[in-house]
Amino acid sequence: MSPFVLTRILAEDAMEAALRADVRHGLTAHPKTLPPKWFYDAHGSDLFEQITELPEYYPTRAEREILLEKSGEIAAALPARTLIELGSGSSDKTRHLLAALTSLETYVPVDVSDSALAQAGKSLVADFPGLDVHGLIADFTAELSLPDTPGPRLLAFLGGTIGNLLPAERAGFLASVRAMLSPGDALLLGTDLVKDEQVLVRAYDDAAGVTAAFNKNVLTVVNRELDADFDPDAFEHVALWDTEREWIEMRLRARSDQSVKIPALDLAVDFAAGEELRTEVSAKFRKDGVRAELASAGLELSHWWTDAQGRFALSLSTVR
Ligand SMILES: C[S@@+](CC[C@H](N)C(=O)[O-])C[C@H]1O[C@@H](n2cnc3c(N)ncnc32)[C@H](O)[C@@H]1O
Repeated sequence: MSPFVLTRILAEDAMEAALRADVRHGLTAHPKTLPPKWFYDAHGSDLFEQITELPEYYPTRAEREILLEKSGEIAAALPARTLIELGSGSSDKTRHLLAALTSLETYVPVDVSDSALAQAGKSLVADFPGLDVHGLIADFTAELSLPDTPGPRLLAFLGGTIGNLLPAERAGFLASVRAMLSPGDALLLGTDLVKDEQVLVRAYDDAAGVTAAFNKNVLTVVNRELDADFDPDAFEHVALWDTEREWIEMRLRARSDQSVKIPALDLAVDFAAGEELRTEVSAKFRKDGVRAELASAGLELSHWWTDAQGRFALSLSTVR
């Protein structure tokens, strides 16, 4: 069995400095915001895995369906020797791709969640003997220095996670992805598609309340890391569809007037009853929009696969 290597690019003190900066900036802004990457401590990563099993949360099943049926075509289009995956989480769906990529030598999962990477890495080296698995604890929105691995390289960004970036962030992110790729490499991108509002809202506001717990977990992370005194029960989970921007927003709405102390930042943050803190956007896409955003970054869409119900798309694009 090949060893599993886990490298921390994001030093723990740099991670804490980034959290401090995001919390100070986001909670003193109007309206208040926090970036979604802070959901994912070990508990948040577990809650996300539970979300993927919920009856309302179709994206994981839809993307898995495409990967099950089309991984052979993806492997034929790009017989990669290295697969790099950003925001890999449990790498569960990726297993279909790993099985189909018969020339693959190295898999590089990249995630902020060390617990998700450690768990995934251990089971992958057991199930794919001979595959080098080199996990990177890193922030995919920051500059990434990837290990020197053989091409062609396939860079996968699955789960619709690209929708969590705001449009300007997406443009910067896709440009940095383009810069990581050489001629002959490709990007495999998972995008959730625009659909009926009810279906979308239910996917982010499930009956069992798992997404609500996931949303509130960001408050627990800030409490633990910055010694803050958020009362998660004093906030209500909100998911709404923005028709104009075509994105879902997750928010936390204060149930009452309250003041939250964050001693590590020497900060007190006041919330008025009904005030909302935005914790995530999840943009939904159309094919023409995806093609145009890729083209602006110097990437050319070559393949587009959807599930049978047309809910989710996987696209392959190459360096122009
Ligand atoms: C929506 S989940 C998707 C997980 C998996 N790719 C899937 O399709 O089920 C997003 C993943 O990206 C990771 N993540 C979020 N923001 C990140 C960032 N800025 N840098 C690295 N990983 C990030 C999270 O820890 C989580 O594992």
